Amino acid sequence: MATLNVLFGTESGNSEKLAQSIELTGKEILAKAGDAVKFEVVRKNLKDVKVDDLGSMDNAVIVISTWGEGDPPASAEKFCLDIYKASSPDLSALNYTVLAMGDTGYEDFCGCGRRVDEAIAKLGGKQIMDRKDMDLDYAAHFEKWSVEFFTKMAPLLK
Ligand SMILES: Cc1cc2nc3c(=O)[nH]c(=O)nc-3n(C[C@H](O)[C@H](O)[C@H](O)COP(=O)(O)O)c2cc1C
Repeated sequence: MATLNVLFGTESGNSEKLAQSIELTGKEILAKAGDAVKFEVVRKNLKDVKVDDLGSMDNAVIVISTWGEGDPPASAEKFCLDIYKASSPDLSALNYTVLAMGDTGYEDFCGCGRRVDEAIAKLGGKQIMDRKDMDLDYAAHFEKWSVEFFTKMAPLLK
């Protein structure tokens, strides 16, 4: 059975809230589909994820914010610093996208999400849709992103 991994890195909770919404939508799709579609949704905080764990994932969305001046959220710092310099695992079996959270008022807008995206691509990950960089008005754009995400994801979750 396919798994949709919803991974989030947050400092003030915005990314976690969006990760919860993605999880909920995935579960609603499952409930409506009955026996026609079966996949599992697993939501995890990146503080509990190691870069090597990505090597055994088939589908993942990473929702992550940027702090400081282009820095990772504190709780996801280890994961980010590790993946920025990683040369393994091979992620060619991973379908993924990044939903980056930030604020255009900062010079390095969504810098952490961008670097995580680039690092996963460098390890061979297959981007199923372009990274979306969200400004502070993310709530106004999330629904559209979510529809596009699940449309792209659907054929992969069978
Ligand atoms: C002290 C501080 C530093 C920040 N630094 C950046 C930054 O360098 N780049 C950026 O795009 N956003 C920056 N932000 C904006 C946050 O990424 C944004 O508020 C985001 O929605 C927070 O998501 P979270 O609650 O999941 O951590 C910063 C916010 C604060 C309060």
